[in-house]
Amino acid sequence: MTLVVENLISGYGAVPVLHGITFRQEPGEIVGIVGNNGMGKTTLLKTLMGLLATKGGSTSFHGTDFANLPAHRRSRIGFGYVPQGASGFPNLSVLESLQLATVVGPGGRAKGIDEILELFPELSKYLNRSSSALSGGERQMLSIARAVIRSPKLLLLDELSEGVQPSIVEKLAERLVHLHATENIGILVVDQELGFVASVAKRALVIHKGRISHEISAERLSDLDLLGGSIRSSSCGSFST
Ligand SMILES: Nc1ncnc2c1ncn2[C@@H]1O[C@H](COP(=O)(O)OP(=O)(O)O)[C@@H](O)[C@H]1O
Ligand SMILES: [Mg+2]
Repeated sequence: MTLVVENLISGYGAVPVLHGITFRQEPGEIVGIVGNNGMGKTTLLKTLMGLLATKGGSTSFHGTDFANLPAHRRSRIGFGYVPQGASGFPNLSVLESLQLATVVGPGGRAKGIDEILELFPELSKYLNRSSSALSGGERQMLSIARAVIRSPKLLLLDELSEGVQPSIVEKLAERLVHLHATENIGILVVDQELGFVASVAKRALVIHKGRISHEISAERLSDLDLLGGSIRSSSCGSFST
C-alpha cells in the first residue's frame, strides 16, 4: 500500500508550518524522516493522522484520498500511530493496556495477547506492572505493541528514541526490524536520533523548515551520526528554503 504525499500544507491556526511536503513510501517500506527540532516532523505526522487539518495538497494511501477523513477513520485505512511522548494509561497495568487496545478502536481483527507477546517478548516480564512504573524504553515497547494490535499496514512513529537509553534504543530498532520482517508492515520513523533511523530504514527524508530538502541513504545517515548526530545544512548539502 503506497503512501503518496503531494505538496502537503498544514499548520496551527493561521500559522503555516508545512509548506508543501512531497514524498512517496512504497508498500512495506521503512522510511525515516529526520530533521532538527521545530522543523515540522510532529506536525507532519499529526496531519497524516488527521489531528491537524490539511490546508493544501493531497495525501493518499493505497489509492484512497484520506485528506478529509476524520482522525478516528485513519486507523481503519491501516494507520497505526505512536505519538511523541506517548504516556499510555498510567493507571493501568501493561496487560490491561494491551487488553484495552484489543477491545477499543476501529480497524480489523485484533491480535490476541499471546500473538503480541510473541512479537514483543520483553513485555511478558512486565505484564502486571503499572504502566507508570515502566522505563522510557519499556513504555515505548508497550506503545508500539498497542499500535500494532489491529495489524496496521503503516506504522507512524514519532521520536521513539526520545529519553530512552542507547542500549534500549538498539532493542527498539531490533523489534521494529523483526516486526517489519514478520508482519510486512510499512514504517515511517520520525526521529532525531540518526543512528536509530539508520539502523531500521534504508533511506530517510530530511525535513527543513516544513519542506523535504533531500533524501539521504542509511549509510550516509550512519556517517553523520558518528560525526555528531545532528542534521545541519552544512553537513547535508543545500536546503531549499
Ligand atoms: N500547538 C502548536 N501551536 C502553534 N505552533 C506549534 C504547535 N506545535 C508546534 N508548533 C510549531 O510548529 C513548528 C514545527 O513543530 P514540530 O512539528 O513539533 O517540530 P518537530 O517535531 O520537527 O520538532 C515549530 O515552529 C513549532 O513551534
Ligand atoms: Mg516532534
